[in-house]
Amino acid sequence: MAEVLIHLDGVKKVFVTDEEKRKFEPLRHRLALEDRRELDALLQLPLKPHVYAHIKALLDRCFHRRLIQEGEKDGVTIKHLVVTEAAAKFEQLRASFKGYTPVEPGTLTQLYVGNTMMMSDAPDEKRSNSGFMYRATGDVLIAGLGLGMVLVPVLKKEDVTSVTVIELNKGVIDLVEPHIRKHVGKKNAAKLTVIHADALKWKPQNGAKWDTIYFDIWPHITLDNLPDITVFKRRFAKRLKRKPSSYWMFAWQEDALRYQQQQNRRYGYEPGFRCGTFR
Ligand SMILES: C[S@@+](CC[C@H](N)C(=O)[O-])C[C@H]1O[C@@H](n2cnc3c(N)ncnc32)[C@H](O)[C@@H]1O
Repeated sequence: MAEVLIHLDGVKKVFVTDEEKRKFEPLRHRLALEDRRELDALLQLPLKPHVYAHIKALLDRCFHRRLIQEGEKDGVTIKHLVVTEAAAKFEQLRASFKGYTPVEPGTLTQLYVGNTMMMSDAPDEKRSNSGFMYRATGDVLIAGLGLGMVLVPVLKKEDVTSVTVIELNKGVIDLVEPHIRKHVGKKNAAKLTVIHADALKWKPQNGAKWDTIYFDIWPHITLDNLPDITVFKRRFAKRLKRKPSSYWMFAWQEDALRYQQQQNRRYGYEPGFRCGTFR
């Protein structure tokens, strides 16, 4: 009887197909070697409830390791926000009216300095920083550590040789830097230097120059950022290794702000006028 049961069990076994395995590929590549091996071994087993549960637990574990842990230090707070399916659907609707990228179900990480949300890893933040992540090359200077969201892909780029980050808040450095170092691995972490200073006043060493310079110290996209941007560009223009400087040195959402400023002038809006997604 036992033999028959084993036999029947064998007949009913369902395995992951090659096509289904291929769907795991993008995720698989982002896992550590050990976790990748564990996933590969699980994908060879017959798909029974305990195997599903094990795969889910493995992916949840890996995902949580990638998140910066919640914490509080010197008035700086990191919080996780769980976005449910229902909330994401509602956001999708709002986003389509307001013209921003909707959040997806999952966990968002938010960085607060006092009561101001300085940064989150929402899709719009990723999109609005993607130009810099793509262009960063050689020796890179960044003003504003935030969640280190742009830092992770930039440190992992082969053609990036060093990254210097200037951050005003010590609490941000204490909460974020250790996670980034662990996350990018020893070799890439060795490229990173974080300096605790006000980037608007910080003086680089004599002769220090960079290939790419990025200013991202603001919580919102508002025309009030433009005076800081002007100061930054004036102070750092001679710190660029290459020309044209406008290509290699830029500030978060500067193009959108310049366009908005031009529209305000053209149509005679009040200087403080904000339109659309501008706050
Ligand atoms: C929008 S976040 C930066 C986001 C970051 N690019 C990322 O990928 O997560 C702005 C950061 O700039 C910092 N900051 C604000 N004013 C600053 C200043 N004057 N000098 C240096 N850092 C500043 C804030 O504490 C915050 O960490």
